Amino acid sequence: MMSEAIFNAVQFAIVMSAMWSLNDAAGNEEDNHIATACVGRCDFSYSMDCPRGKRVAPRDLTYHAKETSTQCPAIKQNPDIICQSSEECCGYNGGDCGQPFSYSKVFDVFNNCSGYQNCGWFRAESVDFGTHCSYRNHSNYVAASYSCIREETFIDICSEASRQGKSVSLLYNGSVYRGAIGNPQVCHCIITTSDCDSPARLKFRVIDLRLHSFNDIASCEPHSLVMLQDTATSQSLRCQPNFFQKGFRDVFYSSSPYVRVSLYNQPGMYPTQVWLEVTAKLSTVDVIVTCGSSQPENVLLCGNDLPLYSEDYENKTSTISSGQGH
Ligand SMILES: *[C@@H]1O[C@H](CO)[C@@H](O)[C@H](O)[C@H]1NC(C)=O
Ligand SMILES: *[C@@H]1O[C@H](CO)[C@@H](O)[C@H](O)[C@H]1NC(C)=O
Ligand SMILES: *[C@@H]1O[C@H](CO)[C@@H](O)[C@H](O)[C@H]1NC(C)=O
Ligand SMILES: *[C@@H]1O[C@H](CO)[C@@H](O)[C@H](O)[C@H]1NC(C)=O
Repeated sequence: MMSEAIFNAVQFAIVMSAMWSLNDAAGNEEDNHIATACVGRCDFSYSMDCPRGKRVAPRDLTYHAKETSTQCPAIKQNPDIICQSSEECCGYNGGDCGQPFSYSKVFDVFNNCSGYQNCGWFRAESVDFGTHCSYRNHSNYVAASYSCIREETFIDICSEASRQGKSVSLLYNGSVYRGAIGNPQVCHCIITTSDCDSPARLKFRVIDLRLHSFNDIASCEPHSLVMLQDTATSQSLRCQPNFFQKGFRDVFYSSSPYVRVSLYNQPGMYPTQVWLEVTAKLSTVDVIVTCGSSQPENVLLCGNDLPLYSEDYENKTSTISSGQGH
Protein backbone atom coordinates (compact mmCIF):
# COMPACT_ATOMS: atom_id res chain seq x y z
CA MET A 1 0.00 0.00 0.00
CA MET A 2 2.66 2.38 1.19
CA SER A 3 4.98 1.85 -1.75
CA GLU A 4 2.08 2.14 -4.16
CA ALA A 5 1.15 5.50 -2.66
CA ILE A 6 4.74 6.67 -3.02
CA PHE A 7 4.86 5.33 -6.55
CA ASN A 8 1.69 7.25 -7.41
CA ALA A 9 3.00 10.38 -5.77
CA VAL A 10 6.26 10.14 -7.73
CA GLN A 11 4.39 9.49 -10.93
CA PHE A 12 2.15 12.46 -10.21
CA ALA A 13 5.20 14.62 -9.57
CA ILE A 14 6.74 13.53 -12.87
CA VAL A 15 3.57 14.32 -14.76
CA MET A 16 3.31 17.67 -12.97
CA SER A 17 6.87 18.65 -13.76
CA ALA A 18 6.39 17.61 -17.38
CA MET A 19 3.33 19.84 -17.48
CA TRP A 20 5.25 22.66 -15.89
CA SER A 21 8.00 22.50 -18.45
CA LEU A 22 5.43 22.34 -21.24
CA ASN A 23 3.69 25.39 -19.81
CA ASP A 24 7.00 27.08 -19.43
CA ALA A 25 7.96 26.41 -23.02
CA ALA A 26 4.55 27.58 -24.22
CA GLY A 27 4.83 30.71 -22.07
CA ASN A 28 7.96 31.73 -23.90
CA GLU A 29 6.54 31.16 -27.33
CA GLU A 30 5.15 34.24 -28.94
CA ASP A 31 1.43 34.40 -28.61
CA ASN A 32 0.53 35.82 -32.02
CA HIS A 33 -2.83 36.95 -33.29
CA ILE A 34 -4.37 38.59 -36.30
CA ALA A 35 -7.53 40.67 -36.26
CA THR A 36 -9.30 41.64 -39.48
CA ALA A 37 -12.30 43.79 -40.31
CA CYS A 38 -14.21 44.60 -43.45
CA VAL A 39 -14.72 47.99 -44.98
CA GLY A 40 -18.37 48.92 -45.23
CA ARG A 41 -21.46 48.53 -43.17
CA CYS A 42 -21.48 45.09 -41.56
CA ASP A 43 -18.24 44.00 -39.89
CA PHE A 44 -16.30 47.19 -40.01
CA SER A 45 -14.33 47.32 -36.78
CA TYR A 46 -11.39 45.46 -35.33
CA SER A 47 -9.83 45.23 -31.93
CA MET A 48 -6.80 43.66 -30.31
CA ASP A 49 -7.38 41.60 -27.20
CA CYS A 50 -5.02 39.77 -24.92
CA PRO A 51 -5.90 37.44 -22.07
CA ARG A 52 -5.50 38.59 -18.46
CA GLY A 53 -1.87 39.07 -17.50
CA LYS A 54 -0.75 39.80 -21.05
CA ARG A 55 -0.41 43.03 -23.00
CA VAL A 56 -0.84 43.94 -26.66
CA ALA A 57 2.30 44.40 -28.75
CA PRO A 58 1.00 45.57 -32.14
CA ARG A 59 3.01 44.31 -35.14
CA ASP A 60 1.69 45.05 -38.63
CA LEU A 61 -1.26 47.13 -39.72
CA THR A 62 -2.22 46.66 -43.33
CA TYR A 63 -4.97 47.55 -45.78
CA HIS A 64 -5.87 44.55 -47.92
CA ALA A 65 -7.84 43.78 -51.04
CA LYS A 66 -9.27 40.40 -51.89
CA GLU A 67 -10.39 39.20 -55.30
CA THR A 68 -13.92 40.31 -56.10
CA SER A 69 -16.73 37.77 -56.15
CA THR A 70 -20.51 37.88 -55.95
CA GLN A 71 -20.35 37.77 -52.15
CA CYS A 72 -17.55 40.31 -52.08
CA PRO A 73 -18.30 42.87 -54.75
CA ALA A 74 -16.06 45.72 -55.78
CA ILE A 75 -16.50 48.86 -53.72
CA LYS A 76 -17.71 51.37 -56.23
CA GLN A 77 -18.40 54.76 -54.70
CA ASN A 78 -19.56 54.78 -51.15
CA PRO A 79 -17.97 52.06 -49.01
CA ASP A 80 -20.56 52.74 -46.31
CA ILE A 81 -23.35 51.14 -48.25
CA ILE A 82 -21.40 48.00 -49.12
CA CYS A 83 -22.01 45.08 -46.83
CA GLN A 84 -19.30 42.46 -46.66
CA SER A 85 -19.22 39.52 -44.33
CA SER A 86 -15.94 38.99 -42.57
CA GLU A 87 -16.05 35.22 -43.00
CA GLU A 88 -16.33 35.41 -46.76
CA CYS A 89 -14.45 38.54 -47.65
CA CYS A 90 -12.08 39.68 -44.98
CA GLY A 91 -10.12 36.76 -43.65
CA TYR A 92 -6.44 37.34 -44.20
CA ASN A 93 -4.99 35.35 -47.07
CA GLY A 94 -1.36 35.49 -48.19
CA GLY A 95 -2.30 36.19 -51.82
CA ASP A 96 -4.37 39.30 -51.07
CA CYS A 97 -3.06 42.70 -52.09
CA GLY A 98 -1.65 44.71 -49.20
CA GLN A 99 -0.50 48.19 -48.34
CA PRO A 100 0.83 49.18 -44.92
CA PHE A 101 -0.81 51.94 -42.88
CA SER A 102 0.97 55.29 -42.93
CA TYR A 103 3.26 55.84 -39.96
CA SER A 104 0.99 58.50 -38.54
CA LYS A 105 -1.98 56.08 -38.57
CA VAL A 106 0.17 53.38 -36.99
CA PHE A 107 1.30 55.89 -34.36
CA ASP A 108 -2.34 56.52 -33.42
CA VAL A 109 -3.11 52.83 -33.19
CA PHE A 110 -0.01 52.25 -31.04
CA ASN A 111 -1.17 55.11 -28.85
CA ASN A 112 -4.37 53.24 -28.15
CA CYS A 113 -3.00 49.70 -28.06
CA SER A 114 0.67 49.27 -27.25
CA GLY A 115 1.03 47.93 -23.71
CA TYR A 116 -2.70 47.72 -22.95
CA GLN A 117 -4.57 44.49 -22.36
CA ASN A 118 -6.94 45.34 -25.18
CA CYS A 119 -7.93 48.12 -27.54
CA GLY A 120 -10.52 48.84 -30.22
CA TRP A 121 -12.96 49.08 -31.82
CA PHE A 122 -11.29 50.73 -34.75
CA ARG A 123 -13.15 51.32 -37.96
CA ALA A 124 -11.65 49.69 -41.06
CA GLU A 125 -10.97 52.41 -43.59
CA SER A 126 -10.68 51.97 -47.32
CA VAL A 127 -7.75 53.36 -49.27
CA ASP A 128 -7.20 53.80 -52.97
CA PHE A 129 -4.83 51.12 -54.26
CA GLY A 130 -4.38 52.87 -57.59
CA THR A 131 -3.05 50.41 -60.14
CA HIS A 132 -0.90 48.36 -57.80
CA CYS A 133 -3.57 45.74 -57.16
CA SER A 134 -5.21 43.84 -60.02
CA TYR A 135 -8.14 42.70 -57.84
CA ARG A 136 -9.58 45.98 -56.72
CA ASN A 137 -9.08 49.74 -56.91
CA HIS A 138 -9.73 50.13 -53.18
CA SER A 139 -8.85 48.03 -50.18
CA ASN A 140 -11.78 46.05 -48.80
CA TYR A 141 -10.44 44.99 -45.41
CA VAL A 142 -7.87 45.76 -42.75
CA ALA A 143 -5.61 43.34 -40.87
CA ALA A 144 -3.86 44.00 -37.58
CA SER A 145 -1.34 41.49 -36.33
CA TYR A 146 -0.17 41.58 -32.74
CA SER A 147 1.43 39.55 -29.99
CA CYS A 148 0.40 39.16 -26.38
CA ILE A 149 3.33 39.57 -24.01
CA ARG A 150 3.29 38.53 -20.38
CA GLU A 151 3.12 41.49 -17.99
CA GLU A 152 5.38 39.74 -15.48
CA THR A 153 8.28 40.16 -17.92
CA PHE A 154 7.93 43.98 -17.84
CA ILE A 155 10.33 46.38 -16.17
CA ASP A 156 10.13 50.19 -16.10
CA ILE A 157 13.40 51.58 -17.45
CA CYS A 158 13.21 54.50 -15.01
CA SER A 159 12.52 52.38 -11.93
CA GLU A 160 14.80 50.91 -9.29
CA ALA A 161 13.99 47.29 -9.97
CA SER A 162 15.28 44.01 -11.25
CA ARG A 163 13.77 41.34 -13.46
CA GLN A 164 15.01 37.91 -14.56
CA GLY A 165 13.59 35.68 -17.30
CA LYS A 166 14.02 34.12 -20.72
CA SER A 167 12.98 37.44 -22.13
CA VAL A 168 12.39 40.77 -20.45
CA SER A 169 10.50 43.82 -21.75
CA LEU A 170 11.97 47.23 -20.96
CA LEU A 171 9.32 49.94 -20.95
CA TYR A 172 8.96 53.69 -20.64
CA ASN A 173 5.44 55.09 -20.55
CA GLY A 174 5.55 58.82 -21.31
CA SER A 175 1.94 59.30 -20.20
CA VAL A 176 2.94 58.64 -16.61
CA TYR A 177 4.75 62.00 -16.63
CA ARG A 178 2.14 63.91 -18.57
CA GLY A 179 1.93 67.38 -17.04
CA ALA A 180 5.21 66.90 -15.19
CA ILE A 181 7.92 69.53 -15.43
CA GLY A 182 11.36 68.03 -15.14
CA ASN A 183 14.90 68.43 -16.35
CA PRO A 184 16.30 66.15 -19.03
CA GLN A 185 17.63 62.96 -17.50
CA VAL A 186 18.97 59.56 -18.40
CA CYS A 187 17.54 56.30 -17.09
CA HIS A 188 19.83 53.26 -17.12
CA CYS A 189 19.38 49.53 -17.01
CA ILE A 190 22.15 46.97 -16.92
CA ILE A 191 21.52 43.68 -18.61
CA THR A 192 23.56 40.54 -18.15
CA THR A 193 23.07 36.88 -18.87
CA SER A 194 22.44 34.62 -15.87
CA ASP A 195 25.65 32.73 -16.69
CA CYS A 196 28.52 35.00 -17.69
CA ASP A 197 30.70 32.03 -18.64
CA SER A 198 28.26 30.76 -21.24
CA PRO A 199 28.66 31.91 -24.84
CA ALA A 200 25.12 33.32 -24.71
CA ARG A 201 24.83 36.89 -25.93
CA LEU A 202 21.97 39.37 -25.74
CA LYS A 203 19.54 40.12 -28.51
CA PHE A 204 17.40 43.25 -28.54
CA ARG A 205 14.22 43.77 -30.49
CA VAL A 206 12.15 46.92 -30.84
CA ILE A 207 8.47 46.48 -30.09
CA ASP A 208 7.57 50.17 -29.89
CA LEU A 209 10.08 53.00 -30.15
CA ARG A 210 8.16 56.25 -30.21
CA LEU A 211 10.90 58.61 -29.10
CA HIS A 212 8.82 61.60 -30.21
CA SER A 213 7.66 64.43 -28.04
CA PHE A 214 4.46 63.57 -26.34
CA ASN A 215 2.00 62.00 -28.83
CA ASP A 216 3.29 63.93 -31.84
CA ILE A 217 4.96 61.84 -34.54
CA ALA A 218 6.19 64.97 -36.33
CA SER A 219 8.12 66.27 -33.34
CA CYS A 220 11.58 65.03 -32.33
CA GLU A 221 13.83 66.54 -29.68
CA PRO A 222 17.44 66.24 -30.85
CA HIS A 223 18.38 64.61 -27.53
CA SER A 224 15.71 61.95 -27.61
CA LEU A 225 17.48 58.63 -28.00
CA VAL A 226 18.14 55.18 -26.62
CA MET A 227 21.73 53.99 -26.39
CA LEU A 228 22.71 50.32 -26.25
CA GLN A 229 26.32 49.65 -25.26
CA ASP A 230 28.22 46.46 -24.69
CA THR A 231 31.89 46.22 -23.83
CA ALA A 232 32.96 46.71 -27.45
CA THR A 233 30.28 48.55 -29.41
CA SER A 234 27.36 50.88 -29.06
CA GLN A 235 24.25 51.62 -30.97
CA SER A 236 22.11 54.75 -30.76
CA LEU A 237 18.47 54.62 -31.67
CA ARG A 238 17.25 58.08 -32.48
CA CYS A 239 13.98 59.87 -32.95
CA GLN A 240 13.03 60.46 -36.57
CA PRO A 241 10.07 62.67 -37.50
CA ASN A 242 7.15 60.84 -39.12
CA PHE A 243 8.74 57.45 -38.58
CA PHE A 244 9.31 54.98 -35.77
CA GLN A 245 10.70 51.50 -35.31
CA LYS A 246 8.33 48.76 -34.21
CA GLY A 247 7.15 45.21 -34.82
CA PHE A 248 9.86 43.15 -33.07
CA ARG A 249 12.59 44.40 -35.35
CA ASP A 250 16.10 43.23 -34.36
CA VAL A 251 18.23 46.20 -33.35
CA PHE A 252 21.22 44.94 -31.41
CA TYR A 253 23.21 41.74 -30.84
CA SER A 254 25.75 42.13 -28.09
CA SER A 255 29.29 40.86 -28.31
CA SER A 256 29.52 40.47 -24.53
CA PRO A 257 27.10 39.06 -21.92
CA TYR A 258 26.72 42.60 -20.64
CA VAL A 259 24.82 45.57 -22.05
CA ARG A 260 23.87 48.96 -20.70
CA VAL A 261 20.67 50.58 -21.96
CA SER A 262 20.38 54.36 -21.53
CA LEU A 263 17.17 56.21 -22.23
CA TYR A 264 17.42 59.98 -22.59
CA ASN A 265 14.17 61.59 -21.55
CA GLN A 266 12.52 64.68 -20.21
CA PRO A 267 9.53 63.87 -18.02
CA GLY A 268 6.39 65.45 -19.44
CA MET A 269 8.10 66.08 -22.79
CA TYR A 270 9.61 63.01 -24.45
CA PRO A 271 9.65 60.19 -25.36
CA THR A 272 6.07 59.10 -26.00
CA GLN A 273 6.67 55.40 -25.35
CA VAL A 274 9.50 52.88 -25.50
CA TRP A 275 9.25 49.08 -25.45
CA LEU A 276 12.34 46.98 -26.07
CA GLU A 277 12.62 43.23 -25.61
CA VAL A 278 15.83 41.47 -24.64
CA THR A 279 16.49 37.73 -24.82
CA ALA A 280 19.57 35.59 -24.37
CA LYS A 281 20.54 33.76 -27.52
CA LEU A 282 20.70 30.39 -25.72
CA SER A 283 17.51 28.87 -24.38
CA THR A 284 19.24 27.56 -21.24
CA VAL A 285 20.30 31.03 -20.10
CA ASP A 286 18.17 33.82 -18.59
CA VAL A 287 18.62 37.53 -18.88
CA ILE A 288 18.86 39.65 -15.74
CA VAL A 289 17.81 43.29 -16.05
CA THR A 290 18.58 45.75 -13.28
CA CYS A 291 17.40 49.32 -13.65
CA GLY A 292 18.32 52.33 -11.55
CA SER A 293 21.37 52.84 -9.45
CA SER A 294 21.61 49.38 -7.88
CA GLN A 295 24.11 47.07 -9.51
CA PRO A 296 23.47 43.36 -10.05
CA GLU A 297 26.05 41.09 -8.44
CA ASN A 298 27.25 39.57 -11.67
CA VAL A 299 28.01 42.86 -13.44
CA LEU A 300 31.71 42.67 -12.73
CA LEU A 301 31.83 39.08 -13.91
CA CYS A 302 29.89 39.73 -17.10
CA GLY A 303 31.42 42.99 -18.23
CA ASN A 304 33.54 45.98 -17.45
CA ASP A 305 31.90 48.84 -15.73
CA LEU A 306 31.14 51.08 -18.67
CA PRO A 307 31.38 54.86 -18.27
CA LEU A 308 28.11 56.50 -17.36
CA TYR A 309 26.72 59.09 -19.71
CA SER A 310 24.31 60.77 -17.34
CA GLU A 311 26.93 62.99 -15.68
CA ASP A 312 27.73 64.86 -18.86
CA TYR A 313 24.25 64.90 -20.17
CA GLU A 314 22.89 68.19 -18.98
CA ASN A 315 25.98 70.16 -19.86
CA LYS A 316 26.69 68.48 -23.15
CA THR A 317 23.30 67.93 -24.65
CA SER A 318 24.36 69.71 -27.83
CA THR A 319 27.28 67.36 -28.45
CA ILE A 320 25.45 64.12 -27.71
CA SER A 321 24.15 63.82 -31.24
CA SER A 322 27.72 63.14 -32.42
CA GLY A 323 27.01 59.69 -31.00
CA GLN A 324 30.49 58.76 -29.72
CA GLY A 325 30.76 61.04 -26.68
CA HIS A 326 32.60 59.95 -23.56
C1 LIG B 1 -6.31 56.64 -30.63
O1 LIG B 1 -6.07 57.62 -29.64
C2 LIG B 1 -5.89 58.93 -30.08
C3 LIG B 1 -5.71 59.81 -28.86
O2 LIG B 1 -4.60 59.42 -28.13
C4 LIG B 1 -7.01 59.38 -30.97
O3 LIG B 1 -6.75 60.67 -31.46
C5 LIG B 1 -7.18 58.39 -32.11
O4 LIG B 1 -8.20 58.77 -32.95
C6 LIG B 1 -7.46 57.02 -31.53
N1 LIG B 1 -7.88 56.03 -32.48
C7 LIG B 1 -7.16 55.46 -33.45
C8 LIG B 1 -7.84 54.48 -34.31
O5 LIG B 1 -6.01 55.69 -33.66
C1 LIG C 1 0.70 54.77 -19.16
O1 LIG C 1 0.45 55.59 -18.06
C2 LIG C 1 -0.85 56.13 -17.99
C3 LIG C 1 -0.87 57.15 -16.88
O2 LIG C 1 -0.41 56.59 -15.70
C4 LIG C 1 -1.83 54.99 -17.81
O3 LIG C 1 -3.15 55.48 -17.74
C5 LIG C 1 -1.69 54.04 -18.97
O4 LIG C 1 -2.51 52.91 -18.77
C6 LIG C 1 -0.26 53.58 -19.14
N1 LIG C 1 -0.12 52.86 -20.40
C7 LIG C 1 0.12 51.58 -20.46
C8 LIG C 1 0.28 51.01 -21.80
O5 LIG C 1 0.23 50.88 -19.48
C1 LIG D 1 -10.68 50.79 -61.38
O1 LIG D 1 -10.74 52.13 -61.78
C2 LIG D 1 -10.65 52.28 -63.17
C3 LIG D 1 -10.58 53.77 -63.50
O2 LIG D 1 -11.23 54.53 -62.54
C4 LIG D 1 -11.84 51.61 -63.85
O3 LIG D 1 -11.76 51.76 -65.24
C5 LIG D 1 -11.84 50.15 -63.48
O4 LIG D 1 -12.98 49.51 -64.00
C6 LIG D 1 -11.79 49.98 -62.00
N1 LIG D 1 -11.59 48.58 -61.67
C7 LIG D 1 -12.33 47.92 -60.80
C8 LIG D 1 -11.96 46.48 -60.58
O5 LIG D 1 -13.21 48.46 -60.19
C1 LIG E 1 27.15 71.72 -15.46
O1 LIG E 1 27.36 73.08 -15.60
C2 LIG E 1 27.08 73.84 -14.44
C3 LIG E 1 27.32 75.35 -14.71
O2 LIG E 1 27.15 75.62 -16.05
C4 LIG E 1 27.96 73.40 -13.28
O3 LIG E 1 27.64 74.10 -12.10
C5 LIG E 1 27.76 71.91 -13.03
O4 LIG E 1 28.63 71.46 -12.05
C6 LIG E 1 27.98 71.13 -14.33
N1 LIG E 1 27.65 69.74 -14.10
C7 LIG E 1 28.47 68.74 -14.46
C8 LIG E 1 28.00 67.37 -14.14
O5 LIG E 1 29.53 68.92 -15.04
